[in-house]
Amino acid sequence: MAKPELIQAFNDQIREELNSSYVYLALSADLDGQNLTGAAAWFRKQAEEERGHAMRLYTFVNDIGGQVVLQALPQPASGVKTLKEAFTKALAHEKHVTASIHKLVKLSRQLDDIAAESFLKWFVDEQVEEEKNAAEILAKIEMTGASSGSQYMLDRDLGKKAGASAS
Ligand code: FEO
Repeated sequence: MAKPELIQAFNDQIREELNSSYVYLALSADLDGQNLTGAAAWFRKQAEEERGHAMRLYTFVNDIGGQVVLQALPQPASGVKTLKEAFTKALAHEKHVTASIHKLVKLSRQLDDIAAESFLKWFVDEQVEEEKNAAEILAKIEMTGASSGSQYMLDRDLGKKAGASAS
């Protein structure tokens, strides 16, 4: 049976992942409001993925006999108007989540919980991927500039990536 301190930390991480979902859904809503519908679809898909991350943790806590306790989420910020603002926020947010996952791995090690550490490997790898994706999109935005033409092209590409029609 995992230690209560670890169960608490996993519950905190469930909140982080649900909060990520909420943050991305708010970005999606902002971008829809700017008619950047491709990027909005990309963030909506991201929001769904984050909920999936929360559910992975939820299932693990159940599997090890812990009690899942859901926590309150803060109201996400809104008012983003450009792709650059949205992806700058997304990259900073992913870095924050990476730090919290690494903290959880270190706690598992400290408590000598090999099962928890093994389970978290997927999240460590996922964070590398998510930071890379956000950083690459942000680099593209910086490369192509802030004109409405380049925003349009990038928005269309993001829509395609999300598997949505951005036209
Ligand atoms: Fe589940 Fe993007 O952190």
